[in-house]
Amino acid sequence: MTDTNSNSTANVKGATVEAMFNEIAPRYDLLNHILSLNIDRIWRKKLIKKLKAENPSHVLDIATGTADLSIMLGKRSKDIRITGIDVAEQMLAVGRRKVYNKGLSDRIQLKRAAAEDIPYPDATFDCAMVAFGVRNFSRPDLGLREIRRVLKPGGKLFVLEFSTPSKFPMKGLYRFYFHSVLPFVGRMVSGHKQAYTYLPESVERFPEGADFVKMMRDAGFEGCSAKKLSFGIATLYGGRHY
Ligand SMILES: C[S@@+](CC[C@H](N)C(=O)[O-])C[C@H]1O[C@@H](n2cnc3c(N)ncnc32)[C@H](O)[C@@H]1O
Repeated sequence: MTDTNSNSTANVKGATVEAMFNEIAPRYDLLNHILSLNIDRIWRKKLIKKLKAENPSHVLDIATGTADLSIMLGKRSKDIRITGIDVAEQMLAVGRRKVYNKGLSDRIQLKRAAAEDIPYPDATFDCAMVAFGVRNFSRPDLGLREIRRVLKPGGKLFVLEFSTPSKFPMKGLYRFYFHSVLPFVGRMVSGHKQAYTYLPESVERFPEGADFVKMMRDAGFEGCSAKKLSFGIATLYGGRHY
């Protein structure tokens, strides 16, 4: 009974999140670069560097969106195959155009699928990565378990997610930027009323640091770690499927 209820809540959240990302897809990249002041590129590079050190041949990019992370990895490693999945078809459509324009279509494939129900057999991928996606999953616990299932034993998951700085003066600056500047600019550029108030709200609701590490451990990952980036505006997590 409880499970049925939480699943239906998850489905409602899932449908709303999917619709929201489909609506903002054409402007997502532009807004990402304006609103993050391009700092997200530095964080993405850190993730890619750590992932490349694992020497994977096949990587899963969950909640790939417009495929920025897949493309960054594809450009930096000529012999890695990447599969990107996402629930929002319009985000994937933008991603497919970018992948094609960069000449990466032979190595990067994008498919519509949810993290909670990944359409690949057990032990398919050497590594997995999620950037700014896990907080949007309808059921992060199920999503993490599914990711673990499709990883080969020894395979590593990297998660990049927003977090909230806890120290002065970054804490105050962050709150002002995330709650005032970002929703205003986001609304003006995307024309979407909720998307950029959803962002700070979803970040504050989502478990971070030790709480998210616990969630990874509960999903079966081992050797989990969390490294704060840029005074804690983002955190890079890692965990292995042994
Ligand atoms: C903020 S975007 C991040 C996109 C991309 N990873 C990036 O770094 O720019 C979040 C993405 O998560 C996707 N998403 C949300 N819930 C999902 C789920 N349950 N499974 C797969 N993708 C999901 C959304 O459709 C959206 O494209």
